[in-house]
Amino acid sequence: MGEVRKYLRFPLSYRLEHGVLMLSFTVLAITGLVQKYAGTGIAEGIVALMGGIERVRITHRVAAIVLMIETVYHVGAVGYRLFVHRARPTILLTLDDGRIALQMLLYNLGLRKERPLQGRYTVEEKIEYWAVVWGTLIMAVTGFMMWNPIATTRLLPGEFVPAAKAAHGNEALLAVLAILVWHVYHVHLRHFNKSIFTGYLTEEEMREEHPLELTTVETRAAVESPRVLARRRWAFFSIYGTLAAAMLVGIYLFVTFEETAITTVPPPEQVVIYAPLTPTPLPTPLPTPTPLPQVAASWKGGVAVLLQERCGNCHNSTARLGGLDLSSYEGVLVGGASGPVIVPGDPAASLLVVRQAAGDHPGQLSGEELALIRQWIQAGAPEQ
Ligand code: HEC
Repeated sequence: MGEVRKYLRFPLSYRLEHGVLMLSFTVLAITGLVQKYAGTGIAEGIVALMGGIERVRITHRVAAIVLMIETVYHVGAVGYRLFVHRARPTILLTLDDGRIALQMLLYNLGLRKERPLQGRYTVEEKIEYWAVVWGTLIMAVTGFMMWNPIATTRLLPGEFVPAAKAAHGNEALLAVLAILVWHVYHVHLRHFNKSIFTGYLTEEEMREEHPLELTTVETRAAVESPRVLARRRWAFFSIYGTLAAAMLVGIYLFVTFEETAITTVPPPEQVVIYAPLTPTPLPTPLPTPTPLPQVAASWKGGVAVLLQERCGNCHNSTARLGGLDLSSYEGVLVGGASGPVIVPGDPAASLLVVRQAAGDHPGQLSGEELALIRQWIQAGAPEQ
């Protein structure tokens, strides 16, 4: 087995950029989607795993700052290659890419035998790159609007904030799906292209994927003189330095402009509405009614004591309210202002029973007690 010839496709700086992008994108996607789909089981689980929604929100913002700084670096790195090294802008989509895309489609559908020959970046790769550029731009603009809603609504109508939120969430979903479908298919499934990690592609892979690039690599033009490079570098860094400073100030303002959307409204306080200071005393049990004598009632055998207890305060020999004295057997038989209050043998005709049965007398017998009185009258109201 002979030595496999390798081509450096991605120098270390490219690979590091990809690493930063991959990491920040993944963190942004996870911490963003759990907010987009807040309340679902998986989202709740991830939020809990990350230590609460506060952590998630802060992590999302930190990852966004990392991605923005990476973008500033990327502009510089691309600019450096184009202006100092006069590299060909191989990532640009050209008219010819339309033809290649069509041929690729036909090839994938089995309607064409040959793969179209492609250069340093295939159409699939270019589309993905520009999707990242476009997506990052959208996310930064809509992210700014959500991060600084007051500043936004000074310039734009209020609807733009929820609109930005919708766009941010949906573009995020699109980006995640693009990675899961487009990127995973082209870079992992069709064949595992590890060059963004290792830096190299084999000659065979180059011939398969980037045949036109292979010819350019082999006929690379002579390196330019150090003096020319130094001059270009100076010009580049003075322009890019200014631009980068402006962009970094922009990011700083982006992040610090207002804190409205960062401060989380404190969770509602749990207030106990009814808080008894002293424990509520347990209700005093009602006095159990004195068991009544079960023997046939008579004045001396219970009635006298009962009326003395219940009525004695108002109907006694001195008070005689309503002209009635219930403290003696004679008094009961005599009756009050309306005449006799009992008709022996006929409780229903007895005023005492009638008045008590009405239930509104200042001194009331209980139902059981009244039943006893009825029984007593029924029995002829005996004294003994
Ligand atoms: C807090 C006072 C008070 C107590 C206790 C009381 N009464 Fe009276 N009673 C009155 C007053 C006042 C009247 C007169 C006004 C009226 O007829 O309602 C009256 C009138 C009556 C009359 C009508 C007398 C009449 O000839 O018009 C009867 C019968 C009577 N009471 C029965 C009783 C019985 C039986 C008890 C006990 C179970 C009792 N009362 C307890 C205040 C009381």
